[in-house]
Amino acid sequence: MSTVHVAPATAILGEVHLPGDKSVSHRALLLALASTRRVELRNLATGDDVAATLDAIVQLGATVERDADDPSHVFVTGVGLRNIQPPADGAPIDCRNAGTLARLLAGLLAGLPSGRTFELTGDESLSRRPMARIADPLNELGAKIELATGDTLPMRVTSGGPLHGGTIELNVASAQVQSAILLAGLGAEARTSVVEPAVLRDHTERMLRRAGATIVRDGRTVSIAPIESIELPDTTIPADPSAAAPLIAAATVLHGSLLRLPGVIDSEGRSGFVDVLEQMGAHVMASGRREVDGEPIADLEIHHSTMKKAFIETSDVARMIDELPILALIGHFRKGEFVIRGAEELRAKESDRIEDLAQALKRVGISCQPLKDGFIIRGSTVRPDGGTMDAAGDHRLAMLGGIIGLVSRHGVTIENADCVDVSFPGFFDVLDALAQR
Ligand code: S3P
Repeated sequence: MSTVHVAPATAILGEVHLPGDKSVSHRALLLALASTRRVELRNLATGDDVAATLDAIVQLGATVERDADDPSHVFVTGVGLRNIQPPADGAPIDCRNAGTLARLLAGLLAGLPSGRTFELTGDESLSRRPMARIADPLNELGAKIELATGDTLPMRVTSGGPLHGGTIELNVASAQVQSAILLAGLGAEARTSVVEPAVLRDHTERMLRRAGATIVRDGRTVSIAPIESIELPDTTIPADPSAAAPLIAAATVLHGSLLRLPGVIDSEGRSGFVDVLEQMGAHVMASGRREVDGEPIADLEIHHSTMKKAFIETSDVARMIDELPILALIGHFRKGEFVIRGAEELRAKESDRIEDLAQALKRVGISCQPLKDGFIIRGSTVRPDGGTMDAAGDHRLAMLGGIIGLVSRHGVTIENADCVDVSFPGFFDVLDALAQR
């Protein structure tokens, strides 16, 4: 396990071509598996999570050709939607640390023609995360999904329920659950609808539409019609806004900073963090708004600014769920209390992101009071001292530690920092290249 020290910086300056979005990368690989054409994918995320999905689709019969000079460039030839078969050697599909893989794949497999059994497993962290949220709605639609303990992996999916379609009202604001239901709906006998409790990331809907599926959105309800086959066109994966967030935070806090981030996803379901920062007075300039392969993107330019108060609606929390740890740091740089509520989902992430965040912040001199469904930061406007914190096996906490290092007085030592590779390999090198000291 690696320990990394990040020293304080006076500013950050430069332009970063961020990794391809993790959520979009998982979906592109799964839909390429369900296609039969040779799909070219560019700027695919190269972190461990998406590597787990690459390995999973190979186990399920896809052929993956890799570019020896560029790991983010691959060609995938899938087996077709109705032809996905369990691994010939009977091995389980190891989803490793990737919740998105486990949950979306369960949906895709549940809608296959009858008689195929798939077993999904994961690492220690994923094996603690809730899966009944996937199994219950899919079983309600006619699927046969069994969980070893009632709520956790291993999961057994036996296809061919058959799924009868219908409407599911989500009781958790989860894009993974919404996506699993839409993917299952591809193989149902009738239309399947999902009612979302809040604005969620909509990558599955966008990509399925591009691949030929009939999807209709009416307000917060998305419906999908059954289909025999889909074909994903070649796809360039846009830059990941969750990888952008830590860098945006550093540029906002440090005087004299100027950061450029080209081509970052800019959809409503992913722009919650930037929207809150703007409310607080941050200078995040978005230009060149355009669509690339179905995803709205923009070029971002960020300068330092002084933070003001903000009120965060609980209904907006899902739009920034992965960025809440970074938002906690922003909260430190303004006077008064900064309160996040309605975020109990943080307890079901790669770590208990409420307890582990509060512990980590305390160790580097930031006051964070954990709540059942969020946290309170008591801001101070002066640089936190820094110190040593544990990433607790959670890539988002590792990145947070790196940014606190930059904006602290004495720097931060991050224990178990190599988990940053889950979503942003090379993150600490990027910080080094940007930091002015
Ligand atoms: C994701 C959805 C979110 C997010 C995760 C990726 C996705 O999870 O936290 O990192 O790709 O759909 P939930 O759906 O559990 O909120």
